[in-house]
Amino acid sequence: MFDDLQAMAADLADTDILTLFATKDRAADFSVALDGMLFDYSKTRITGEVRQTLLDLVESRGVIDKRKAMFAGKPINETEGRAVLHTALRNLVGAPVMVDGENVMPEVLDTLNRMRDFAEDVRSGRFTGQGGAITDVVNIGIGGSHLGPEMGAMALSPYHDGPRAHFVSNVDGADIADTLKALNPETTLVIVASKSFTTIETMTNAQTARDWMSNWVERPENQFVALSTAEEKTSAFGIPPARVFGFEDWVGGRYSMWGPIGLSIMLAIGPNHFRAFLEGAQAMDAHFRDAPPQKNMPIMLALTGLWHHQGCGYPTRAVLPYDQRLARLPAYFQQLEMESNGKRVTMDGTTMDYASGPVVWGEPGTNGQHAFYQLIHQGTDVIPCEFMVAAKGHEPELAHHHRLLTANCLAQSEALMRGRSLEVSRRLMADKGFEGDELERQARHRVFPGNRPSTTLIYDQLTPYRLGQIVALYEHRVFVEGAILGLNSFDQWGVELGKVLAVELEPVLSGEASGKDKDGSTSLLVHFVHTHTS
Ligand code: F6P
Repeated sequence: MFDDLQAMAADLADTDILTLFATKDRAADFSVALDGMLFDYSKTRITGEVRQTLLDLVESRGVIDKRKAMFAGKPINETEGRAVLHTALRNLVGAPVMVDGENVMPEVLDTLNRMRDFAEDVRSGRFTGQGGAITDVVNIGIGGSHLGPEMGAMALSPYHDGPRAHFVSNVDGADIADTLKALNPETTLVIVASKSFTTIETMTNAQTARDWMSNWVERPENQFVALSTAEEKTSAFGIPPARVFGFEDWVGGRYSMWGPIGLSIMLAIGPNHFRAFLEGAQAMDAHFRDAPPQKNMPIMLALTGLWHHQGCGYPTRAVLPYDQRLARLPAYFQQLEMESNGKRVTMDGTTMDYASGPVVWGEPGTNGQHAFYQLIHQGTDVIPCEFMVAAKGHEPELAHHHRLLTANCLAQSEALMRGRSLEVSRRLMADKGFEGDELERQARHRVFPGNRPSTTLIYDQLTPYRLGQIVALYEHRVFVEGAILGLNSFDQWGVELGKVLAVELEPVLSGEASGKDKDGSTSLLVHFVHTHTS
């Protein structure tokens, strides 16, 4: 399917990216501007011809029809027989969204209003714990019920004026123990966030939190909230319906931070800022739906990704936010992108004979510069870098910090593209007094091959609205890549097998089951645990 792209990538392999800027207005032509944001993909080897070939894929792979089907509530998550409607959660205008002939918007807006009322009660001190106003909120969840809330709460910390937000996800007891030990159980609110309300990590942590609280609080269930689609299970856990915020199965876990799963963010930043976050996402939805493909930011972001992975064959991509408050964004994108598009079978069940989604990884700049950028600049693998930076920070008194941060971000994409030739490196070493073979040897270590592609997403400031736009931008990017790849971006069967085996292994570790059917390696590891715990 990607033969044309691969042939073009081979033809362009020796083309200097810098020379492409000889074409007048390349930067403006190979970027998409939108309402306080600019996505620049000009520092790549995408030419006009490559772009056209990529855009042809949008047409030939039915992306536009699929987009229509998604917004219309058709069951495009075919392996689970579900619609995909996270966009309904930010459809603040409330235009009807039909699922199986029923308009889901009244319920969505009703839940949002209930969340707002509850958040206001908690933030104002009307809702209290046994010991008075709530000072701390602990969100217990994992995967989509954790990464979005944690990432969002951290990203928007300049807007925090509610109780402190804490996040527990790992079943490793260290996570909950370290979190709870600093808290007062009498003024802590625990949110159990689990779409299914069966996830073993979350339910184990929720039980531990309840046990902890019941040592101090007479009615711990009064300080618990559930965010889930499974109301019977939340009642069985003892959380009254008034404090259960439900959503439907057409919201995938990794797409769920816009609704009840975002409650911890709303509690921290307040309903108005949370609404601005939803408005930003809604604006990105409208842009994705209406803008022509070449001017459509999610589509062009997706096509750049496809060019690099399926066309050029680069196995990974790095997400590099120059924003400390986006430190959890790479982890959030890892679930969003890899759980969505890390598949090997197409919609109709055939095995792909092409690459599906790439490995996604990253860290905030400038920290990454002092860790793994060495490999990005001089390693043998080419890693397309997706830089992100705000023009303005939130600390006016520290504007000089932000200037430095921004300068570093722009410098990295320039350095990756320009590189440094052997000739220049020789001159540098000659200036330092090296000569002969030693000069040559030293110079070679200082060569930067350059010609390494990167994109930059720059925006005015990381406000709630802008964060909403950015997250929705990436959601739609994943959708477009998945549609072109012909896979289902909305299921996650690949996480199941390990869960089943963990359930089997737990009694083997406790000694209640023999584990005699296990392979030699697993048995050896179990034996090691037994000898070190008995
Ligand atoms: O294990 C994968 C997964 O199902 C994710 O898709 C999901 O976000 C996470 O587990 C948590 O699921 P739940 O919200 O049902 O606890």
